[in-house]
Amino acid sequence: MEIILRYVHFISIFAIVGSLVSEHLLLKKEMTRHELGRLARIDAVYGIAALSLLAAGLTLWLASLGKPAVFYTKNWIFHTKLTCFILVGLLSIYPTVFFIKNRKGNPDELVKTPPLIFWMLRFELSLLFIVPLLAGLMAKGIGHSE
Ligand code: HEM
Repeated sequence: MEIILRYVHFISIFAIVGSLVSEHLLLKKEMTRHELGRLARIDAVYGIAALSLLAAGLTLWLASLGKPAVFYTKNWIFHTKLTCFILVGLLSIYPTVFFIKNRKGNPDELVKTPPLIFWMLRFELSLLFIVPLLAGLMAKGIGHSE
């Protein structure tokens, strides 16, 4: 069970990074509604992967499969990792709403992309760059306090 959950955890991370990198590469200052529809679909992959990552992570944490739940609960590095994950989720709200709202209508019509969308995606990717280091540290028990 633990191996399956770890597998889901990792596959979800690949899907999250893949979808956010794709979004960043496809993002342009001006896009047609058709292109925005494609970004909304890629963003849905991110959403599903974030949910499966969370489900696998919560189970690994709370079901005490490998290590007891308290091993993680009392670790500030683990909580920093969770905070980064939540921040990524919060930062993704505005781009998601923008893609969904603007995909409808004439597919050839051009829509201007707010510059903030570029920065939010870059910030999300930067946070994701740090999380595996935090994960490795907390898995070794670094940051744990009695
Ligand atoms: C972007 C989000 C996340 C990334 C990139 C990430 C990454 C990782 C990585 C790389 C590991 C393996 C660590 C190792 O064995 O050295 C891991 C394990 C784990 N993660 Fe995550 N994780 C994320 C989100 C979460 C969330 C949201 C939770 C809990 C709600 C969570 C809970 C766990 C637990 C409990 C383990 C097992 C650690 C151990 O082996 O002792 N993760 N994560």
